[in-house]
Amino acid sequence: MENRYAVILAAGQGTRMKSKLYKVLHPILDRPMIQYVIEALKPTNVEQLVTVVGHGADEVKKAIDDEVDFVMQEEQLGTAHAVMQAEALLENKRGTTIVVCGDTPLITAETYQAIFDYHEEKGAKATILTTKVANPVGYGRIIRDETGHVEKIVEQKDANEAEQRINEINTGTYCFDNEALFAALKQVSNDNAQEEYYLTDVIEIMKNAGEIVTAYVTEDEDEIIGINDRVALATASNLMKRRINEIHLRNGVTLMDIDNTYIGPDVTIDSDVTIYPGTVLTGETHIGASSIIGPNTEIVDCHIGNNSLIRQSVVTNSKIGSNVNIGPFAHIRPETNIGDEVRVGNFVEVKKSTIDNRSKVSHLSYIGDATLGTNVNVGCGSITVNYDGKNKHETVIEDDSFIGCNTNLIAPVTVKKGSLIAAGSTINEDVPEDALAIARTPQVNKEGYAKKFK
Ligand code: UD1
Ligand code: CA
Repeated sequence: MENRYAVILAAGQGTRMKSKLYKVLHPILDRPMIQYVIEALKPTNVEQLVTVVGHGADEVKKAIDDEVDFVMQEEQLGTAHAVMQAEALLENKRGTTIVVCGDTPLITAETYQAIFDYHEEKGAKATILTTKVANPVGYGRIIRDETGHVEKIVEQKDANEAEQRINEINTGTYCFDNEALFAALKQVSNDNAQEEYYLTDVIEIMKNAGEIVTAYVTEDEDEIIGINDRVALATASNLMKRRINEIHLRNGVTLMDIDNTYIGPDVTIDSDVTIYPGTVLTGETHIGASSIIGPNTEIVDCHIGNNSLIRQSVVTNSKIGSNVNIGPFAHIRPETNIGDEVRVGNFVEVKKSTIDNRSKVSHLSYIGDATLGTNVNVGCGSITVNYDGKNKHETVIEDDSFIGCNTNLIAPVTVKKGSLIAAGSTINEDVPEDALAIARTPQVNKEGYAKKFK
């Protein structure tokens, strides 16, 4: 294998996206599109990845900084000019350079690998990734001679009628002999319909110099979609969604509705998990075996154990154990740690809290900045009063405690092991171990009074 390098072209403004966001940063299932390109290139063992960016590219740098080198293309004078910007970093290196666009996120690692292999096998100086499409309008056309050898690429705006009828198109991905590439780029002119320096001219330049120029034809038309507007973005998102969902289906995950399940590229799911429609799983999320998720559930950056059930709920940046039952309509906010066999029921919000094994918060509660031990039962409507208007305070409820319905726990406060709180109490002092706390006004019954009022 030759040394391998990559140049990702991403300096175009992407004006057709009509967005403040730099085009290659538009997310597809929660990952910027350019990140898919980088991920797909990694398995091909490229030694150096150079991304060509334009003005306002600071955000791009922030998003993918640690993985690539950047070069700036001050003015967008064409794709050849863009590749030239990488000269300082790559010139004189021996090996193969793949040039790809930052806006073609669906090209797979297998396809990149295949074009590299084909290129090296043929001993070519240039190999174009091409495909045949029903409607070639807008793309560069592949011109072959009578024997089928690639001669050149003609851009849409420079193509004559016969050339316009050709349906084999340039996908915008190429492998080049690195030294031959930078030598040929120096000969590219902007004498064409768009007055741009076309990278595609390198093909004809090499061909005329008697070098081997080939094309690797891919069958999959979907893979090569370039994202120029939000229609293409929506199409690509759908294709990516299906691609990811099919991986999970093959791994033994049941999706009740493949079209209405949104799973991010970094999510991992064990076998025998069932996912109901309207579920969105993103970030670094893991779902353990045999769990049931959804319908209409959003889980971001969470680790969920085995055999847990999460229905109609939102769970963010938290850890949930096994055999847990959450929802319907629960909100688990960041930094929550829920143990095994815990129940968090309907209309319960939990924030930055720990709920240990076998505890239950079944209905209409707010648990914030709290630590609950094992076997705790929090009655309906009970809340931690964690915020005094300035600061947050902590509540501790130790093992085996029973919190009666509609209790206010005014933090900071500790309810010691095994204690019992009478319903309706407002607790602002620690409760000792095994004690019963009652903190409410005693009831007074006034005989006959109701009748008088009526
Ligand atoms: C290009 C190809 C065309 C091919 C098509 C596939 C050329 C001349 N034509 O056309 O044959 O069929 O892609 O999608 O290359 N870019 C820069 N700097 C520039 C110009 C472009 O970084 O000065 C980047 C863009 O951000 C984009 C990529 O290069 O990622 C392709 O540029 P674009 O203008 O979209 O080329 P097309 O006209 O689509
Ligand atoms: Ca394009």
